[in-house]
Amino acid sequence: MRVVRTIADLRAVLRPLREEGKRIGFVPTMGFLHEGHGALIRQSAARCDATVVSIFVNPTQFGPSEDLANYPRDLERDQNLCLDAGATVLFLPEVAEIYPTGFQTHIEPGRLAEPLCGRFRPGHFRGVATVVAKLFNIVQPDLAFFGQKDFQQTVVVRRMARDLNLPVDVVVVPTIREADGLALSSRNTYLDEEARRRALSISEGLLAAKAAFEGGERNAAKLLELARAPLSGVDSVQYLELVDAQNLEPFQGEVDRAVALCVAAYVGSTRLIDNVVLAPSPLDAVLNVSLSPQSV
Ligand code: PAF
Repeated sequence: MRVVRTIADLRAVLRPLREEGKRIGFVPTMGFLHEGHGALIRQSAARCDATVVSIFVNPTQFGPSEDLANYPRDLERDQNLCLDAGATVLFLPEVAEIYPTGFQTHIEPGRLAEPLCGRFRPGHFRGVATVVAKLFNIVQPDLAFFGQKDFQQTVVVRRMARDLNLPVDVVVVPTIREADGLALSSRNTYLDEEARRRALSISEGLLAAKAAFEGGERNAAKLLELARAPLSGVDSVQYLELVDAQNLEPFQGEVDRAVALCVAAYVGSTRLIDNVVLAPSPLDAVLNVSLSPQSV
């Protein structure tokens, strides 16, 4: 695995691969990797000839009161995980490499960035869309892999790639969970044992709603209620919403299309998000076909 820190070096490594017609996969990350990232890298390695992983804690997607300065880092562990999962190139740019002095051009996502997390993290998806567009331009991947756990991010990024005619396929990989249901997240490291136990109420509710959906329940209010019931375990619920999985608008009534049940909640000072997609058709078809650029 090659480790490169500059755009020029990355391009020099990738140019011959591209000239040989190799398919390039890309997994953008902010580091402190876990098996969720491992799954993205493995899927890229299985589907592409070369896999680039970037680790870049992107300052423009953090709000002024968010955890940028304390965002967890462990480069040595990250490198091992990338290697084990089959990455071929690790891109580790400094902030000045991505945002040189004078930088002033941003990607402004539209309505998809407004609800859910967008309501509570103003500017977050502008920062995500901007850095992902830059990274797509730098890496020029054929396929790029994102985790379903950041569901709104996947929808915003896919839309952005389509709107800007970026020649990349955005692939969404289902959320990886611990055996007890907790969705893997770099932020889980902030949870002590007691907080972790309380955090489980998030996945407990979502998975109960999913089980009910699979058992035939289609009523949006009932599904929401099932997800809400155990949530007294957390300290505060920022949002719990059932939305149309394509346009992210609130969904009411009987579920007749793919919807996403999305939660953001605080356990102590740690903000956690999670979701399940409830779909009359198979999940992969929903994540990767009906949300594909052609049909949104
Ligand atoms: O999901 C993340 O880790 C980040 O939002 C991403 C996609 C790497 C952009 O900084």
